[in-house]
Amino acid sequence: MPRFEWPSLKIGNLTASVPIVQGGMGVGISLSGLASAVAEAGGIGIIAANAIGMIEPDYFKDGRAANLRALRKEIQTARQQTKGILGVNIMVAVNDFHEMMDAAIDEKIDLIVMGAGLPIKDLPVEKMRENGVKAIPIVSSVRAAQLIFKMWKKIYNDVPDAVVFEGPLAGGHIGFSEEQLDDPAYQLEAIVPGIVEALKPFEEEFKRAIPVIAGGGIYSGEDIHAALKLGASAVQMGTRFVATEECDADYKFKQAYVDSTIEQIGLIKSPVGMPGRAIRNDFIAASEAGERPSFKCAWKCLSTCKADEAKYCISIALNNARRGKIGQGFVFAGSNAYRVTEIVPVSSLVGELAEGYQRKASSSVVRHLDKLVARVQDLRGQYDGLGIRVRELGLAYEKSLSIRIQEARDSGVEQLRKQYDSTLGRLRGLQLQIMEGLADSWALLSSEKVTS
Ligand SMILES: Cc1cc2nc3c(=O)[nH]c(=O)nc-3n(C[C@H](O)[C@H](O)[C@H](O)COP(=O)(O)O)c2cc1C
Repeated sequence: MPRFEWPSLKIGNLTASVPIVQGGMGVGISLSGLASAVAEAGGIGIIAANAIGMIEPDYFKDGRAANLRALRKEIQTARQQTKGILGVNIMVAVNDFHEMMDAAIDEKIDLIVMGAGLPIKDLPVEKMRENGVKAIPIVSSVRAAQLIFKMWKKIYNDVPDAVVFEGPLAGGHIGFSEEQLDDPAYQLEAIVPGIVEALKPFEEEFKRAIPVIAGGGIYSGEDIHAALKLGASAVQMGTRFVATEECDADYKFKQAYVDSTIEQIGLIKSPVGMPGRAIRNDFIAASEAGERPSFKCAWKCLSTCKADEAKYCISIALNNARRGKIGQGFVFAGSNAYRVTEIVPVSSLVGELAEGYQRKASSSVVRHLDKLVARVQDLRGQYDGLGIRVRELGLAYEKSLSIRIQEARDSGVEQLRKQYDSTLGRLRGLQLQIMEGLADSWALLSSEKVTS
């Protein structure tokens, strides 16, 4: 049997042999450990920049500086661990977006995924191009993708290198209203083909492929196969990578996935003003009931956040959970987190996904072959039917031909008979005339003889 090979993911001059992008997961869930393991396994590993400084001791003294330091360190550490493809995930909405972008470019990261807002204005596109850093926005609609591409073309005479579409089943903050979450019109199946189509004119104009990466609820190799069938070039996965040995969160954070039930996976109204998906716990229930833990805002990381009014600081809550203090915060998780049964190495997970992908791919080849065989049999049936019909027509034709011949023969004989009868009639007439003429002549001759 030939060795299995994934369809590779190409983003410009970068080629990932496994078409899986590990979703950036803040706060501190995907750092150098997870990102380098995924890159080493052939996928794309992403370090989440969001509140990354919380892993530093001085975050509450100087959040901005801690963020920058931690980001640089994590990129450098990951680089030492792999030659694979590494990216960072930076939220557009954070107040240190530009400094973080600059730091990641200086560290020669391969790509930057930009979410939580539309990455359009004031982007260091020129600097990214000079350093060969790829730009990948996260979108939640065809419209958002079109808007970003149109505006980039107008402002930078350039376009992003790929797009992540994150559907409503994802973990963490989600770019959909609660009503849209279960609506088929907002799921991967409905939106991915539309984005692929919408990017075609830009691919033609800028003469390069712009891969679409689909995420949110992708759990198995079979799911990856289905996403690629929709036209995506790769998938982005978060939840499955949390339950890995290399994930940078505390063991308790990962175990919360293993222990979770379907009923516990639910929504929260995040203080940042978006819904989020998490494993619901007492902390969330207490907050919804009006309890407000006292907290100190480190440095107003989000311009839209009103710390005085917020029910809690989401960065602090997520960071507590990362450190294993789940009760003092909560665990963000995708809709499929309850299906996780064990914590495994990244390489085993990617192996399991490859098997599932292969199973689906070969079963779809078999299904395709079955369809082809059925079609051939159908054609054969049609052909046989046609043969019988042709034979029937031939017989009918022969029959009608012989009837015609007989008719022709019959009508020919009839005509001859008529001609014969009329000729005979005419001959008889002539004979009568001759006889009468002879009789007259004879009578004339006799009378002349008497008189002479
Ligand atoms: C614990 C957790 C934290 C996340 N944090 C971020 C984040 O900081 N930025 C971001 O763009 N997406 C974040 N996400 C979303 C993931 O990057 C990814 O797109 C998503 O999890 C995909 O859906 P899945 O979990 O069903 O695979 C987070 C997801 C999880 C589960």
